[in-house]
Amino acid sequence: METVKYLLSEDRLPESWYNIAADLPSLPPPPLHPATGQPIGPADLAPLFPMELIKQEVSTERTIPIPDEVRAIYRQWRPTPLFRARRLERALDTPARIYYKYEGVSPAGSHKPNTAVAQAYYNKIEGVRRLVTETGAGQWGSSLAFAGALFGLEVEVFMVKVSYNQKPYRRALMETYGARVIASPSTETASGRAILAEHPDSTGSLGIAISEAVEVAAQRDDTRYALGSVLNHVLLHQTVIGQEAMIQMEMAGDYPDVVVGCTGGGSNFAGIAFPFIGAKLRGERPLRVVAVEPAACPSLTKGKYAYDYGDTAHLTPLVKMHTLGSTFVPPGIHAGGLRYHGMAPLVSHLLELGVIEAIAIQQLETFAAGVQFARLEGILPAPEANHAIAGVIREALRCKEEGKSEVILFNLCGHGHFDLQAYMDYQAGKLRDYEYSDAEVAMALAGLPSVGA
Ligand SMILES: Cc1ncc(COP(=O)(O)O)c(C=O)c1O
Repeated sequence: METVKYLLSEDRLPESWYNIAADLPSLPPPPLHPATGQPIGPADLAPLFPMELIKQEVSTERTIPIPDEVRAIYRQWRPTPLFRARRLERALDTPARIYYKYEGVSPAGSHKPNTAVAQAYYNKIEGVRRLVTETGAGQWGSSLAFAGALFGLEVEVFMVKVSYNQKPYRRALMETYGARVIASPSTETASGRAILAEHPDSTGSLGIAISEAVEVAAQRDDTRYALGSVLNHVLLHQTVIGQEAMIQMEMAGDYPDVVVGCTGGGSNFAGIAFPFIGAKLRGERPLRVVAVEPAACPSLTKGKYAYDYGDTAHLTPLVKMHTLGSTFVPPGIHAGGLRYHGMAPLVSHLLELGVIEAIAIQQLETFAAGVQFARLEGILPAPEANHAIAGVIREALRCKEEGKSEVILFNLCGHGHFDLQAYMDYQAGKLRDYEYSDAEVAMALAGLPSVGA
């Protein structure tokens, strides 16, 4: 009997999040105040985030306990299954053994509720009544809408306009959970109006939507902002994925030689990879870790490692990260969750340290990989996850060429049930690849702030 999936009972749900800061040889450079150029303190972040999340943002404790209330909700879909992709292995005729952790079983259909529930919880216990956020693919907005419904919080979501138009059913899901959804750029904020005045046809970007959400959140005392990726505490919450995967890989009698994840802001990648990277940094087990990003928005492979704003209107602190420039508006590829100009400081730092690798893949190769995967494994992946699958197929074919039976683990971070228009466009031959030209890079990077350079 060939085992296909490795399941954990609810009592194996991790009791704490894993904080990679404890194992890093050096910490990433601190966020800076845009006006003073000095490191920001907790008080600077207090108008945007609850104090418990700010503490997590700067913590260097290796483990941070997951509150019981959060674990109780996680149990609705966690622990998530780990699959062995036996049919994919056979189709590729590879000696590699391929495993995937499937986060699409969550209520929103991706890894995003792992942090949405935690963020909603900490906001609720600190007396916050309303949360404002941005969403690209709609996965994060759906997750926060779901978490807000559970904790009785109002949720407002600025949804990148191109996704708002591509994915009307994501909007319907958010509204069903009780959230209010606004296409971004909108006329509701000064940031949105400024963009529309200059570019009336703007398709939006995560950078613009973040500006709108931050602006609204800072206006009211009972309102806070929530971010679905990039920040240390968001990556921290996602480490339940990798911790579960470590136990499941042990059940399978294997340990990964390569871990692969797609990267938008870096959170699902961190979720699967950080616990394994921790073991590597502690000298316990070596492995390679590969981040896969879209060629149309290649922050890790073509961006500059520099201090930059997290948003387009420059309302956020400056963080040191791989960036394409905060004014960069990526082409409207269907992997909306990967259309972010920057990258998590922790992921950027690991790339600089040489602990992880990064590659960029074109849209058509990722959809070909996703369709092949669906036909073999049955699960229709989110377009973001297709990037990880395309990276895995490349690795598996390399193993075949080199005659190596390596173990490959990847994060299948979400399903694509709300992305069927993208698959229809792909099947109809309407999708195309985008080359990100050096002139575009230079133009966007010319606007980088000089502070902390
Ligand atoms: C399914 C899915 N995967 C990946 C991402 C990218 O975000 P991150 O890099 O933080 O995982 C998103 C973001 O919206 C997403 O919805």
